[in-house]
Amino acid sequence: MARATSLYVCQSCGAQTRQFFGRCSSCGSWNTLVEQTAAPTDNRRRRPVAPAAEATIPAAPRRSEPIAAVGDRPLQRLGSGYGELDRVLGGGLVPGSLVLLGGDPGIGKSTLLLQSAQAMAARHAVLYVSAEESAQQVKLRWRRLAEEQGEGADSGLQLLAETDLELVLQELEALRPAVAVIDSIQALHDAELNSAPGSVAQVRECAAALARIAKRQDTALLLVGHVTKEGMLAGPKVLEHLVDAVLTFEGDRFASHRLLRAVKNRFGATHELGVFEMRGQGLAQVLNPSELFLGSDEPSAGTATIVACEGTRPLVVELQALVSTTSYASPRRTATGIGTNRLHQILAVLEKHLGLPLSRFDCYLAVAGGLEVEEPAADLGVAAAVVASYRDLTLPPGTVLIGELGLGGQLRPVGQLELRLQEAVRLGFRRAVVPKGSGLGRLAAGLDLQLLEAGGVAEALVAALGVNPADDRA
Ligand code: TYD
Ligand code: MG
Repeated sequence: MARATSLYVCQSCGAQTRQFFGRCSSCGSWNTLVEQTAAPTDNRRRRPVAPAAEATIPAAPRRSEPIAAVGDRPLQRLGSGYGELDRVLGGGLVPGSLVLLGGDPGIGKSTLLLQSAQAMAARHAVLYVSAEESAQQVKLRWRRLAEEQGEGADSGLQLLAETDLELVLQELEALRPAVAVIDSIQALHDAELNSAPGSVAQVRECAAALARIAKRQDTALLLVGHVTKEGMLAGPKVLEHLVDAVLTFEGDRFASHRLLRAVKNRFGATHELGVFEMRGQGLAQVLNPSELFLGSDEPSAGTATIVACEGTRPLVVELQALVSTTSYASPRRTATGIGTNRLHQILAVLEKHLGLPLSRFDCYLAVAGGLEVEEPAADLGVAAAVVASYRDLTLPPGTVLIGELGLGGQLRPVGQLELRLQEAVRLGFRRAVVPKGSGLGRLAAGLDLQLLEAGGVAEALVAALGVNPADDRA
């Protein structure tokens, strides 16, 4: 009998086996299997907050119904108090949903959720559970933030500093808040399990128990999750499956802005972007992020401006390239904010189709403001910045470049071009180089934007720079 209930659970990936192995056969990590003696079914029976609702449902012969007959319940969303957070959530918090907020330590997860909890507490019952910091620490921060926002001590925000899951569940039942913040899920501890807080079994059990109570009493739960050194959400993948939305909070430790993204969202689009700035007095929303990613007004050689799209949000971003003669056997290629492989590919295309001997030059590329641009729509901008630096040219001011580069040197169309052009015009750009066949001539004329369409990279660079970069080869 004991054998049947004994399980080995990988603390890294959550895989379960009946036998002990030194190496997890599922994810390949060593020494991660931990014995679990408690049978999961027993666990559930012992838990005092077992779903009471289930017991009251009469045992009906059929529980399904035609989908058209399912009663409509409009999604009522709770505003989080911050438009940037609402945007990433898809319009606000959905009652009964679980949202996981991941991010590096010290990036500002606690600050964001405390500010948001404070803002929501004005209209709803909100509970903030701090499992990492003492009540005094949270209060200290809260007072600093509240002072800045001009709010006094009459906040309705409830605070509980507790790591024991059972007590947290009891408080949730007693208070029945509309919103609860759990900071963090890794610090919570279920006394019925032997493993340490933060282990796979603990995180999964705690999250599942919280999910049950959230669904039952329509509490929107915001869970903080830590990120491992590899940038993965610590804890098992099952956590990501369990929650309705996974948000990541990221940013450069040395820069003040923070980017909030939705990696998964059952109630809205993913890839939406929210931008905040960490100030001395907490996080402030950045409503005009393009201004953050634009460099100086002074044009210089080797800079180009692109319009990247994050979800439905266009961002005008400046790129800088530095091309200099190499003194190494193989030239150095460094890119921040853009994948190095992407840079290699663009350099190869320029070498082949423009005849530029870039393999004899070091090449450095940087995206202003520390933004990560993953989109291929940035290709043309990268090519222009590299060529401008190589030829020591300055792009005419007020020019944006948008387009993906094919390996054959052709320019490929990109999505949401209209949106990108509108954002560029809003920020005062007057020229745009785009792939051929955009069909946006009329729109551009209406916006007073000079639209330069090109079929290939050479044509596009001639249009952008005003000279042929392939002439006068070095
Ligand atoms: P925190 O929210 O504790 O990060 P996390 O919960 O993600 O670990 O934020 C900690 C950092 O934020 C800390 O290094 C100090 C900085 N900070 C400010 O710059 N201004 C502020 O008003 C606050 C509250 C924090
Ligand atoms: Mg924290």
